[in-house]
Amino acid sequence: MAQLNVNGKVRQYEAEEDTPLLWVIREQLGLTGTKYGCGIAQCGACTVHINGVPTRSCVRPASTVDAKDKVVTIEGLSPNGSHPVQKAWVALDVPQCGFCQCGMVMAAAALLKTTPKPTDEQIDQSITNICRCGSYNRVRAAIKSVAQGGSTKSAGLAITHTDGSVA
Ligand code: FES
Ligand code: FES
Repeated sequence: MAQLNVNGKVRQYEAEEDTPLLWVIREQLGLTGTKYGCGIAQCGACTVHINGVPTRSCVRPASTVDAKDKVVTIEGLSPNGSHPVQKAWVALDVPQCGFCQCGMVMAAAALLKTTPKPTDEQIDQSITNICRCGSYNRVRAAIKSVAQGGSTKSAGLAITHTDGSVA
């Protein structure tokens, strides 16, 4: 049995040397928020943090992750969806179909941790995740709202929802 530290807990798993971390996370640990999109490190749907670094888990063999490395999946970002990035995502209605969004959130959270006020260029360089629904503008707006202290209004990014509420 091998071990991983995922979301602050030591977890046991059994896998081949080349089994991607993604499949251990999803199939053995039951954490299905991390998605499979392309399998070739292109789309970012499978993004998790390893020691704070956004990592495409579809191409990272689980056997290369040390038991002391801290893996965080979308389920571990906050206990109740209260991470500032998650709150901004909700406030700005970022997701459409949602499939890519856990990876987007993980990539954005990692960026904002190292670069609290990213420029457009820094966002472009860091968030290379693919969204077939085209949520890119709202992803950028949500990142900027977090950089502005979480206020979509002060960020100049408030939107009016169909029920009339403004976020
Ligand atoms: S599934 Fe990993 S980058 Fe697309
Ligand atoms: S929200 Fe549908 S793929 Fe991104």
